[in-house]
Amino acid sequence: MTLRPLLTLLLGALLLPAAAQKFDGLALTPPMGWNSWNTFACDIDETTVKETADLFVKLGLKEAGYQYIVVDDGWMEMRRDPETLRLVPCHKKFPHGMKPVVDYVHGQGLRFGIYNCAGVLTCGGYPGTRGYEFLDAKQYAEWGVDFLKYDWCSTGSGNGGLPYQQEARASYTLMRDALRQAGRPVLFNICEWGDNQPWLWAKDVGHSWRISGDIACCWDCELSYGGWSSFGIWPIIRMRQGIRQYSGPGHWNDFDMMEVGNGLSPAEDRTHFAMWCMLASPLFLGNDIRKMSQETLKLVTNKELIAIDQDPLGIQAFRFINDAGYELWVKPLDKGQWALAFVNMGEGTLDIDYDWRRFNIKDGTFGRSVDFHKEAFDVRDCVNHNDADDTGKNFKHTLQKHDIVVLRLTPKR
Ligand code: GAL
Repeated sequence: MTLRPLLTLLLGALLLPAAAQKFDGLALTPPMGWNSWNTFACDIDETTVKETADLFVKLGLKEAGYQYIVVDDGWMEMRRDPETLRLVPCHKKFPHGMKPVVDYVHGQGLRFGIYNCAGVLTCGGYPGTRGYEFLDAKQYAEWGVDFLKYDWCSTGSGNGGLPYQQEARASYTLMRDALRQAGRPVLFNICEWGDNQPWLWAKDVGHSWRISGDIACCWDCELSYGGWSSFGIWPIIRMRQGIRQYSGPGHWNDFDMMEVGNGLSPAEDRTHFAMWCMLASPLFLGNDIRKMSQETLKLVTNKELIAIDQDPLGIQAFRFINDAGYELWVKPLDKGQWALAFVNMGEGTLDIDYDWRRFNIKDGTFGRSVDFHKEAFDVRDCVNHNDADDTGKNFKHTLQKHDIVVLRLTPKR
């Protein structure tokens, strides 16, 4: 090789930008917040967002750890601006544009999230981002957006009737790079419903990824809409038990925004919330905060349960027992502690009488185990906030139908 091409090559390598990457350190524990979709669908507006931000502070949600206010689908006009090609906030719903709303949310010490889609249209039929990745990312940065939920509608033949098929990894990586270039740290929430197994490739692309189709406000149901389904609480919990090793600090399996407070029974709400904590899922409220009952508020601000979700190890629970009339789920915690959740899946009342020494616990995936013959633990009931003795004695508890009790085990000194 002569000197000239060699020099060009070297110079080229020097001038190439460093490989883009996601913004690190944004989700070392599962992100927490509120999202408009489950209650408002596309009917979201400025007043609702501002009132929700106010209540985050007033009701102690912010103090409990909820940070992000996320506006889901429906926030735009049906067309981009013909001159600038920029997305246009719906004039009726956001009459002052998006920037003042973002500023307002920031003014409450909270963070602001927005929604769009990797395809040509969002799932609600609004302009998608395909082809406009860098423009949209720049616009979000100008507004001060801190979180992007990025959906997967209208991306191909099986999905939107288009004569091509987008590739998921490339599409999400492109948007990650666009966000990076725009320069404002944004938590990137991948929402392709688990169709392309993002847990296998998205660790360096996004901070969380949905593992299922849309959640529905029911206990154990699947609602089919010809071609796609939404799922109740339990089908989602059970859907992907083989992927817990892919979730952890900075990159979470996302079990979807919650339906707590939207019509399940009080016991089912408890189980729903506590299981999301056990699974180290992002915790996004999906109810109307302005109409929340005291009971719901108490549940979603239960600091002992939230601490289990936010445990620094970030290990997702696994099902340990499934054949005793109840399910027992186990989550290793920091400092040799453990969280255990007993759930009554039956339709009647259940008396639990659990002998700790009957089973030792082993989590082969994360290399943690307990031998109850050798180690003793204090037992704390994190749902009812009482000390439930220690592992020297059987754990006795009565559970109503679909109810849960979550225990934190702390090694005895
Ligand atoms: C779905 C997504 C929902 C919601 C909706 C908006 O694809 O899973 O969470 O964002 O689109 O149209």
